[in-house]
Amino acid sequence: MSFLATRLDRIKPSPTIAAGQKARELKAAGRDIISLDAGEPDFDTPDSIKEAAIAAIRNGQTKYTTVDGTPALKQAICDKFKRENGLTYTPEQITVGAGGKHVLFNALLATLNEGDEVIVPAPYWVSYPDMTLLAGGTPVFVECPAEKGFKLQPQDLERTITPRTKWLVLNSPSNPTGAAYTRDELKALAQVLLRHPHVYILNDDMYEHVIYDGFAFSTIAEVEPGLYDRTLTVNGVSKAYAMTGWRIGYAGGPVALIKAIAKIQSQSTTNPSSISQAAAVAALSGPQDFIASRAEVFQKRRDLVVSMLNQAKGITCHRPEGAFYVFPSCAGVIGKTTPDGKVIESDQDFALYLLMSAGVSVVFGAAFGMSPFFRISYAASTESLEESCRRIQRACGDLR
Ligand SMILES: Cc1ncc(COP(=O)(O)O)c(C=O)c1O
Repeated sequence: MSFLATRLDRIKPSPTIAAGQKARELKAAGRDIISLDAGEPDFDTPDSIKEAAIAAIRNGQTKYTTVDGTPALKQAICDKFKRENGLTYTPEQITVGAGGKHVLFNALLATLNEGDEVIVPAPYWVSYPDMTLLAGGTPVFVECPAEKGFKLQPQDLERTITPRTKWLVLNSPSNPTGAAYTRDELKALAQVLLRHPHVYILNDDMYEHVIYDGFAFSTIAEVEPGLYDRTLTVNGVSKAYAMTGWRIGYAGGPVALIKAIAKIQSQSTTNPSSISQAAAVAALSGPQDFIASRAEVFQKRRDLVVSMLNQAKGITCHRPEGAFYVFPSCAGVIGKTTPDGKVIESDQDFALYLLMSAGVSVVFGAAFGMSPFFRISYAASTESLEESCRRIQRACGDLR
């Protein structure tokens, strides 16, 4: 009898975390590595938020809180949803967890029975399929090709829904492609979903504020009020406020689901850190102007990276609407030979070649369910982006 549970056989460790680990090991061994694999802003948490956390420690907010969020944070989240998304939620419709990842995991654990299906548009954020599998569900992938802007098409959604479909995952702007749905595109998907009342929408708006060229962000529960009662609108402070390490994510949704999530949390993690919750109140209620100026910086970096990658032989890079990722095709390098005689057979081979010979750490596309592509996070300084893109250009030029 194996000591470890068989459910572990269904999943693999996060490939993005693994890529970061490999890069760190090489750096520790003295190699010159530029890491473009991390899914976090390179900016620091704003001082006003840090001060709120320090004040929380000083004034004794250091005890257990309500399992799924303090009243103050739940109210700040309701205000945020109203102010920024036109969504009305009451505090009892809000849950707070240790990151958006935790909230998504709890939601799947609270709802999936063995064999229930979760529609995951591909390319996808690495955790959706494995969380689904861990919770006993079955991920069902729908390919969203680059020619369609990496976006789910209504007719593809329609043909993928079965009586076992429990959730559709929607993530806009997307990790790993940066693709974001317009209001009209969400409306078209909503028309399909309205015809299938048993399907719930796990809507992940984590990159809501990292958006470019004046793109108008929309979220499906607001675009189609008919879906409000079966949408979990997930968001968090990690990306918008550069607070990845604080571990606060939240969601608004139907009360029965919110209560089910609290039940799981009460028997697992209890509340997220009281201090981080106080910081999140300050983030959501405090000055918001730095969000737009940081998005401007990201936009400049996107333009730089897209332009430089398109000058690399064999690489084609789209121009995403948001998030801090690009997901270029490396179809043009497949079948080519490296200077030391190895044939690049897959995007995994290509990512390894970039790491070992150019010292640039990226994540291969298969990890996100689409090949041959790779993901670059441009949450890095302009200098290191210029240098890494030059290295990629050189490495591609060296292939024969
Ligand atoms: C699409 C997406 N959703 C959710 C998360 C979770 O973020 P966190 O758990 O830090 O709130 C991430 C983090 O990388 C993400 O990329």
